[in-house]
Amino acid sequence: MSDSAARIQELRRVIEHHAYRYHVLDDPEISDTGYDALYDELQALEDAHPELITDDSPTRRVGAAPAEGFTKVEHLAPMGSLEKVTTREALEKWAADVRKRLDSDEPVAYVIEPKIDGSAISLVYEEGVLVRAATRGDGFRGEDVTANVRAVKAVPLRMRLPEAEVPPTLFEIRGEVYFSLSGLARFNVAQVAAGKKEAPNPRNAAAGSLRQLDPGVTAERPLSIWIYGAGVHEGDAPDTHFAMLGWLRERGFRINPHAERFETIDEVVIACEQWESRRAELDYEIDGIVIKVDSFAQQQRLGALHERPRWARAFKWAPSTAVTTLKHIHIRVGRTGALNPLAELEPVQVGGVTVSTATLHNEEDINRKDIREGDLVIVQRAGDVIPQVVGPAGEHLPGTTPWKMPAHCPLCGVEVVKPEGEVKHRCPNRACPSRGLETLVHWVGAAMDIEGVGEQFVRKLWDEGLLRSMPDLYRLSVEQLLGIEGYGEISATQAVAAIERSKAQPFSRILFGLNMPKIGWVLARNLARHFGTVDRLLAATREELEEAEGIGPDRAELIAEWASDDENRALVEDLRSLGLQFEVAESERAVVGPLTGFQYVITGTLDGYTRDEVKASLEALGAKVTDSVSKRTTGVIVGENPGVKAAKAEKAGVPILGQAELLELLKGA
Ligand code: IVH
Repeated sequence: MSDSAARIQELRRVIEHHAYRYHVLDDPEISDTGYDALYDELQALEDAHPELITDDSPTRRVGAAPAEGFTKVEHLAPMGSLEKVTTREALEKWAADVRKRLDSDEPVAYVIEPKIDGSAISLVYEEGVLVRAATRGDGFRGEDVTANVRAVKAVPLRMRLPEAEVPPTLFEIRGEVYFSLSGLARFNVAQVAAGKKEAPNPRNAAAGSLRQLDPGVTAERPLSIWIYGAGVHEGDAPDTHFAMLGWLRERGFRINPHAERFETIDEVVIACEQWESRRAELDYEIDGIVIKVDSFAQQQRLGALHERPRWARAFKWAPSTAVTTLKHIHIRVGRTGALNPLAELEPVQVGGVTVSTATLHNEEDINRKDIREGDLVIVQRAGDVIPQVVGPAGEHLPGTTPWKMPAHCPLCGVEVVKPEGEVKHRCPNRACPSRGLETLVHWVGAAMDIEGVGEQFVRKLWDEGLLRSMPDLYRLSVEQLLGIEGYGEISATQAVAAIERSKAQPFSRILFGLNMPKIGWVLARNLARHFGTVDRLLAATREELEEAEGIGPDRAELIAEWASDDENRALVEDLRSLGLQFEVAESERAVVGPLTGFQYVITGTLDGYTRDEVKASLEALGAKVTDSVSKRTTGVIVGENPGVKAAKAEKAGVPILGQAELLELLKGA
């Protein structure tokens, strides 16, 4: 064997070992940098010796080109599903049934594991090498997602076999690919920033990531896997489920550390009930606990009914409910003026957590359910959703009356309105203090993302009268903060510094923070890119506003109205004088559009358009506009009295576009 071949083999072995320490044992031995160095060395050697590359090399996780679609594959054995139970009694009844069917006094041990809320997967290893990964599909046939599953780093491309162990001819492994909750949060922030849709929950995120046509996209997603058992397999393997989990872990598979073995159903019941509140400790979603009979021989004898094994059950928590007093319905006025009712409850334990507030939707919904202040109500928490008031608990208490939305805004006293076709009441007063407060909360959080300065900070300073609008924030001094309870020298200095740093946030975020009606993050970014500067945006006519992506006549009207308001203009001027960004920076310009990758130079005067306007239009379509002609210039747009640039372009053979061609180009794009 050549030196390179030997080194390549050694590197692969070492890299696999460290990946195993990291992903499976959660106990890395080297730093990320150390790992990267090994990986880079392997990559370089493989680049120099392509003939030595094999499919199971750690560098080949993302190798396949984007697919057209997914082929269907038949499972080696059906991937069944689990019968669920929701009460202790049902679980005990199942255990009694298991005993009866086994028809003897032999001991029955159980294994419990978290039921992972992700996407089920079957992995087939031949001679120890991953050859196929398939989704569950209808249980009999799934989709071949091998290329994508290879991109999930916690899935071994090769089984990790102890010295001298012959690789099994065939070994199928089953598990659940999932998104961590922290990964989902980060992913969604990035999705929103990119103007894309958020994933509603980790299950959809996992399933969606597995069904990407481009494995490169899957590789970018924070996916991981928990393996929960073996499917069809040949060769020697343990004869109990619990031993199998340990055996699989040694062979490189990521086994959930919370799997536990119990010898009595009583212990199982206690553990399942404890998990209802313990689940909050996990950084992934579980929708119950799976209980399995440990012995494979017993599993075999118990068999299955309609592809649901009699040897296993999923213990799922019923959506937890509790009854408590609805003390008061409080109205919160949002930053857009919407009146949101909020139930203030006598604190009560629901599914392991104390709940003292719950959402209510709107007046119509409250009245349909006949939810009244002072009544006993049923509160529900299902999964991780915000607690909700389901309805009254039994008969109404004497003296309670149907609830009515207040006729006046609780904060400014202005009469509330309910626009036609909407379910929400609104406070029409744009100077309503609550809207100012909520706008500030929105500004420091979602828009400017000021570190350590959040809702609590804003509410506190608002109450102290130190904060009424965004510019006030930038005028706060350390001394002022020192007068506020909870602030010391360090925290006050940090807050002021974080506020100062936020001045560098890009124009699109500032636009989002300004709280123009019906302008969320994506539209704010589109407006910033389209107009480039606040002056152009504020000067734009309705027709011009409608040219920005996503802006229809309604919004154009609202923006124009916002722009014509003196107070809003003064706010912009004030913030600008404080040093905030009101122009798009180069980094924000990266619009992806039909002209992405094209680069133009403009010279001379154009009839009816300023150069800036032409530049903005080209950039809005993804093109880059530069000052001088270079190798990368796609074309030079030449108006009247062109400068030397036109001559230079002609000499360099760069295409010249007159005004007519420019209009063609813009229209075509
Ligand atoms: S054992 C016959 N163990 O739950 C099926 N399943 O309804 C035996 N799941 O789609 C499955 N975590 O993917 C098992 N620890 C676990 C699990 C688990 C999640 C999923 C599984 C299947 C569904 C069963």
